[in-house]
Amino acid sequence: MKTKILMVCLGNICRSPLAEGILRSKLDPDNFKVASCGTGNYHVGKAPDSRSIKVAKANHIDISNQKADQFKIEYFEIYDMIYTMDEDNYHNVLALASTQEDRDKVHSLLDVLADPTLKEVPDPYYGGEQGFTYVFKIINQACDMIAEDIQKPE
Ligand code: 4NP
Repeated sequence: MKTKILMVCLGNICRSPLAEGILRSKLDPDNFKVASCGTGNYHVGKAPDSRSIKVAKANHIDISNQKADQFKIEYFEIYDMIYTMDEDNYHNVLALASTQEDRDKVHSLLDVLADPTLKEVPDPYYGGEQGFTYVFKIINQACDMIAEDIQKPE
């Protein structure tokens, strides 16, 4: 059975689509499924923001076919690991968990970096392209750690 990983932000058009594409690019598709969604419903069904598509493409990752989705309580059943981009996403997802098992699945993405100065992936939506380049860089670092950890030989 595949290990299923869910990346979560607010709108699911800027940060978590990048996290989905980046992590997927580092994992064996036969063993892992990666998806993303937002805690909000503003952009459901839409493609990622053009600036996220652009920075992903510049790094040889195609996220243009992804479609925004909203987090649902049922996702606790489907996914094994849930990574949130910022503190709001973290608390909003955690508030929907009804068991300790569900709560244990929820992690702040940047906690895997163990760098106390980096707590949240900043929302780049209202800024310029530079923000997307920075967001790509830190998500990529975190995804390197996750991919290394979950693909360790037994
Ligand atoms: P994301 O960024 O959570 O990284 O997808 C946002 C995109 C859109 C909005 C907020 C955050 N919005 O309010 O429309």
